[in-house]
Amino acid sequence: MPRVLMLKDEDPRARVETIDEERLPERAVTVDIDFSDLNYKDALAVTGKGKIVRDYPFVPGIDFAGTVRSCEGGRFARGDKVILTGWGVGERYWGGFAETMRVDEEWLVACPEALSTREAMLFGTAGLSAMLSVMRLQEAGLARGARVVVTGATGGVGSWAVKMLAHYGYEVHAVTGKPNQEAWLKELGASEVLGRHEFEGEPRPLEKSRWAGAIDTVGDNVLANVLAQMEYHGLVAAVGLAGGSELPTTVMPFILRGVSLLGIDSAMQPLARRREAWQHIAELPEAVRHAMHYEELGMEMIAERAEAMINGDIHGRLLLDPHID
Ligand SMILES: NC(=O)c1ccc[n+]([C@@H]2O[C@H](COP(=O)([O-])OP(=O)(O)OC[C@H]3O[C@@H](n4cnc5c(N)ncnc54)[C@H](OP(=O)(O)O)[C@@H]3O)[C@@H](O)[C@H]2O)c1
Repeated sequence: MPRVLMLKDEDPRARVETIDEERLPERAVTVDIDFSDLNYKDALAVTGKGKIVRDYPFVPGIDFAGTVRSCEGGRFARGDKVILTGWGVGERYWGGFAETMRVDEEWLVACPEALSTREAMLFGTAGLSAMLSVMRLQEAGLARGARVVVTGATGGVGSWAVKMLAHYGYEVHAVTGKPNQEAWLKELGASEVLGRHEFEGEPRPLEKSRWAGAIDTVGDNVLANVLAQMEYHGLVAAVGLAGGSELPTTVMPFILRGVSLLGIDSAMQPLARRREAWQHIAELPEAVRHAMHYEELGMEMIAERAEAMINGDIHGRLLLDPHID
C-alpha cells in the first residue's frame, strides 16, 4: 500500500497517509515513484497560499520520476524509467508526493539513458523550465557571450538558469534578495550579483540599457525594471511570478527598443519539445548536472519546507524521496 502526502481542507492541511491502491486514480500507467521534488507551485498547494487545489482529498506534486510497474497502452513497458512534469498533475490530478501513482500515458516522457531518475528530479520542473527558457532565448537569436540577467537567481528555476547560461558561454548577472548567497551564485557561474532591491522600485518606462537577454522568475516591478533596462532588440523570457503577477510597464521597451517578451510555460509543452529539453539536460556535462545545491527531504518534511519556500528562504532545489520520513 503506497504512502502519499494527502491534502485536506482542514487543519492540519497536509498529512502522510498509507492508502489502499484501489484509491489511486484509474489511469493507464502505474508508476513506482523514485523521486519527486518541491517546486514553487507545490509550495502554494501544500500551504494553501495559492488556489492551486480545488478538490479534496488531494495528493500534490507537479512532477516525479520513477519506474513503470504496468502500462495498459503500448508506449511503455514494465521497468521503463519515466519522467512526468506538468499537464495539471499536482493541480487537478493526483501527483508525485506518493510512493506510487497512476497517470496517463501521454503525460510521460522516457527518462534519457544518461540521466538517473534522481538526477532528473534534481532538475524537475524548475530545471526543465530553465532549459526551456534558455532554448527560447537561443532560438530567438541571443548571441553567445551576451550579457544576460537572471532574477530570483537563488530559486530552483533561477539557479539552474544561472548554471546553464554560464555553461553555454553567456555573461550571467544574477539578481537576488539573498546577499549571503553571492559566493554560491558566483560558483554557479554568475559574473556579477545584484541586490533584488535595485529592481523593486517604481519602474520607469526606459532606463540605461544593460542586458541583451533576461530570464525573469519574479514578475511585477522586477520584470518591469528589467524590461526598461534591455538593450535594443533585447530578449526577455518571462517564466515566473514569485514576486507577483502584475506587470507595471509601458509599451516603450517594445516599440522604442524592439524588446521581445517571450512567455515560457512548461506544464502544457508538447511531448516533442519536452524530449528535446530533457535531451539537452542529459547532455550537460556531469560537472554541470551535479553542481546544484539541494536538500533531500522525506514526506514528513514537506509542509515545513513548503512554508520556507513561500517565504523565499530556500536556495537551490528540494529533492523528495517519498520512501523516507
Ligand atoms: N512558467 C512555468 O512553466 C514555470 C515553471 C516552474 C516555475 N515557474 C514559476 O517560477 C517561479 C520560481 O519557481 P521556483 O520553483 O524556482 O521557486 P523557488 O525555488 O521558490 O524560487 C523563487 C525565488 O524567487 C525569488 N523571489 C523574489 N521575490 C520573491 C518573493 N516575494 N517571495 C518569494 N521569493 C521571491 C527568491 O530568490 P532570490 O532571493 O534569489 O531573489 C526565491 O528563491 C515561481 O513563480 C513559479 O511558479 C513557472
